[in-house]
Amino acid sequence: MNHNKTIAKVCNAAPVIPVVTISRIEDARPIAHALVAGGLPCLEITLRTKVALDAIAAVADVEDVIVGAGTLITSDQVNDAKEAGAVFGVSPGFSTTLIDATKRFDLPLLPGSSTASEAMQLLEKGFSYQKFFPAASSGGFEKLRSLAEALPQITFCPTGGVTSENAKQYLKLPNIICVGGSWITPNALVSSGDWKKITQIARHASALLE
Ligand code: 3PG
Repeated sequence: MNHNKTIAKVCNAAPVIPVVTISRIEDARPIAHALVAGGLPCLEITLRTKVALDAIAAVADVEDVIVGAGTLITSDQVNDAKEAGAVFGVSPGFSTTLIDATKRFDLPLLPGSSTASEAMQLLEKGFSYQKFFPAASSGGFEKLRSLAEALPQITFCPTGGVTSENAKQYLKLPNIICVGGSWITPNALVSSGDWKKITQIARHASALLE
């Protein structure tokens, strides 16, 4: 499958891509199972913790899970993410180094933009699916509505400041395929191992388009 097709599949899997930070490796598989049970098969595991790569490896074979790694910046991170079993990578922006590495290590990328010029540069490089980051502080819904008129050929996944309250508004725009956010797996619920509650939040998120 080519990179664009994989990213299209990732973005079409559900209305929300949970952005998950895992500090304890033993939480990784229960979180993945809880998200799948709630209808969110696709997740981004952030590389912010020591166990992040192990967590990606731990969930890679959970049935139905599509696991990605973010934030990718360097070539080594792309290599590590791919080796761990990530199916896709996410970045808040883009660079030549990053894009070259994702081609070299064959890891489909959802790169980030927050201006028309960045979005156009990415489109020129073949990326019609882009993360819009940081969504809320880069103009949010109104900016994306303007971009839908000016650049209808680009599809966005807004992330950063997207919440259970405002996600639906973003998802109504014609250029929004899904949103990303950390609200699905709050730290307190992960710490207490409340997987049922995480499934409930995921279920609500997965029904946002209904
Ligand atoms: C990210 O890494 O994409 C963001 O930190 C997620 O943003 P949120 O915490 O506002 O959802």
